[in-house]
Amino acid sequence: MNISSANAEDRAFVRWMRDASPYMRAHRGQTFVIYLAGEVVADLVFPQIIQDLTLLCGIGVRLVVVHGTRPQLTARLAAAGQANILQGHLRVTDAACLEHAKAAAAAVRFGIEAQYAHATRIRPLGTTPLRIVSGNYVMARPAGVIEGIDLQFTGEIRRIDAVAITSQLQIADIVLISPLGYSPTGETFSLNAMDLATEVAIEIKANKLLLMTGEAPLRDDKGALRRQLTVREARELQRETGHHRQLNNAVRACQFGVGRTHLLNATDGVLLLELFTRDGVGTLISSMPFDQIRPATIEDVGGILDLIEPLEAAGILVKRSREKLETEIDHFMVVLRDGATVACGALYPFLPTATAEIAGIAVEPAYRRHGFGKLLLAALEARAAALDLRTVFVLTTQAAHWFQDQGYARGALETLPGERRALYNFQRNSQVLTKALGADSASIPPLP
Ligand SMILES: CC(C)(COP(=O)(O)OP(=O)(O)OC[C@H]1O[C@@H](n2cnc3c(N)ncnc32)[C@H](O)[C@@H]1OP(=O)(O)O)[C@@H](O)C(=O)NCCC(=O)NCCS
Repeated sequence: MNISSANAEDRAFVRWMRDASPYMRAHRGQTFVIYLAGEVVADLVFPQIIQDLTLLCGIGVRLVVVHGTRPQLTARLAAAGQANILQGHLRVTDAACLEHAKAAAAAVRFGIEAQYAHATRIRPLGTTPLRIVSGNYVMARPAGVIEGIDLQFTGEIRRIDAVAITSQLQIADIVLISPLGYSPTGETFSLNAMDLATEVAIEIKANKLLLMTGEAPLRDDKGALRRQLTVREARELQRETGHHRQLNNAVRACQFGVGRTHLLNATDGVLLLELFTRDGVGTLISSMPFDQIRPATIEDVGGILDLIEPLEAAGILVKRSREKLETEIDHFMVVLRDGATVACGALYPFLPTATAEIAGIAVEPAYRRHGFGKLLLAALEARAAALDLRTVFVLTTQAAHWFQDQGYARGALETLPGERRALYNFQRNSQVLTKALGADSASIPPLP
């Protein structure tokens, strides 16, 4: 059977596997801390989420799962006719409430373990069963008296036993942590589970923290999903929105060394879509800028070829062999999104005539009309300005209007440097466009 005869579903699967494979490799051996809000555990999609967690274990991700119990505890208090007293964002935990908190945590924990047993039975990961461990990893102290109200057994995190957790990750597939901590006096305290997940991620130096809740995704003023935020942007949003527990935790985690925090709304498949597709489906808060523009290196050759080969095949760009690209790589700049090359372009200076050719500009089709082309062009012009060149020119068959929109004007073949004119391909019949570099050419606009 050849692929063209495969049905649409098969083709989609093959494509998905190919697109996902770099992420599988990147995630293998990494440590993720996943917070599951109590609402998520109670949701109908929970069995699917557990299945996806077992898939992550299967590709070699080390997982720490911290679960919440808020709705479960609230339901138990209501059933017992006991008041649910809040002081600001914190629950007042008296002795009776603490017993319900322990019971709720135990019930959720056993529920998760049972779901794992089921998930690995229907999709086994080899011959050894999936192992989940729990333990006394969290030390706590009383939160104390706030505005005159004694919070009693509501606690704060005192210390996380990172050594114990990381050593358990060597022998188990998952470390499961409930929102309870113990004090040296032998008491138990109820903790906020999301804060706990964040502190665990910081202490064990996790690669990622995934906060999965039933809350609506973060949207901008126009209602579009906020896909990515740098820590600086997240802090600005924090100032605008006031108290936002997810954002607060994401910022804290990133500030204290966790590479990335993902805010996710629990839906079927959310983990796979977030972790194995380039744009994801949640909000990513990253301590590094998500997009990057920089000079290309030899490692970028593969990514650039992926971008330009379809355009070469369509006759839009002039063909360059891998060897030629490798020797000319220093002329190229690339725009990266989440480590993948989404745009490239090159600058070839002709120093004696104080000019340079801009060539090979390509933006991946899915990322066009987002300003990457303009950004790249500005960066190449800034490179030319830094070399004290006076003009740049381009030869194009299909993007003349785009270059005109960026300030280029029709030029004559005769204005090109002699050595470039000699290589002009009359069959391609490209249009020549030129631009004089001014004082503003040295600045690059911010990433879109
Ligand atoms: C031309 C190209 C680099 C533009 O990249 P981009 O990131 O989409 O561009 P920007 O987001 O900065 O600008 C988008 C605007 O340019 C317009 N545009 C894109 N390609 C165009 C073209 N070939 N001709 C005229 N206008 C074009 C879009 O319609 C959009 O304008 P609008 O929002 O007013 O409708 C990209 O379309 C591409 O890779 N094309 C194929 C390769 C190519 O032709 N390269 C140039 C040869 S050197």
